[in-house]
Amino acid sequence: MRLGMTNRLKTVRKRGMTIPRISASLMAADGARLGDVCRMADDLGVDSLHWDIMDGHFVPNLTFGPATIKSCRAISKMEFDVHLMVADPARWIDVFAQAGADYLSVHVELGTTVPALLSQIKKAGCKVGLAVNPGTKLEIIDKSIWPMLDRLLLMSVNPGFGGQEFIDVTEKISQAAALRREFPNMDITVDGGINGKTADSVIKAGAMTLVSGSGLFENGLPLQTKLSGLRGNA
Ligand code: DX5
Ligand code: ZN
Repeated sequence: MRLGMTNRLKTVRKRGMTIPRISASLMAADGARLGDVCRMADDLGVDSLHWDIMDGHFVPNLTFGPATIKSCRAISKMEFDVHLMVADPARWIDVFAQAGADYLSVHVELGTTVPALLSQIKKAGCKVGLAVNPGTKLEIIDKSIWPMLDRLLLMSVNPGFGGQEFIDVTEKISQAAALRREFPNMDITVDGGINGKTADSVIKAGAMTLVSGSGLFENGLPLQTKLSGLRGNA
C-alpha cells in the first residue's frame, strides 16, 4: 500500500452524520494538467483520486492506460482508486496493480468470473472493489463475495461517460449501509453525477466516499470551493 500519510483513511462522524471522503474523478481533468491535479489534490483536501479505465469494448469510450497511472504514481502518494470498465479485466489487473493502483474495482455485471477476478485483485496486493451499475440489484451478489470486499462502488450513472445526470440509487446505498453491520470494513462509494446538489441525499443514505468529476472540476482543475459543497450539510 502506498497510501499517503496525510490521507484520511476513515470517514468522520459529526452530529451523527458521516462526513464523506471525496475522490476526484480524473476523467474530468484537463489531460495536459494531470500532474498538476495529482500534486494539488492533497493540498485541496481531496482524499483519493479516481481513475476510470475504459477500453472501448465494455463501454463505448477510451480513457487512461497503465503508463499514465505509473507516471502519476511517481508524483503522488494519494490513494489511487482504479475503476476497471474493460471487457477482459483478468488481463489488466496485475498490470494496473504494478502501475500503482491501491484499490481495483471490477463490475459485478461480468458474471461468473467475478469471484476469480476479486481473488486476483487481492493476490496482486490491491484492495478489492466491486462496481454495480444503477440497474443491477445487490441481490445478484453471491453471499460468498461480500466478505471479500474492501469497497462497494455503487454507480449512480451508467458507466462510460462523465458529466451525466445523477440516477437515484439511495435505496441501494441504504441497503449496502445495513450490510456494513456484517461487513464493517467495506467502504461504500458512490460514483456518478455527484455535485453540491446531489451529495446530501447519498451521504444521508450512507455513502462514505463520493466520486466526483464534473461536480468538482472546472476548466480541468478541481476547485476547493466545490469540495466543501460535496461534503454535504454535515
Ligand atoms: C462513469 C465514471 C465516473 C465518472 C464520474 O463511467 O465511472 O467515475 O467519471 O464523473 P461525473 O462526476 O462527471 O459524473
Ligand atoms: Zn468511475
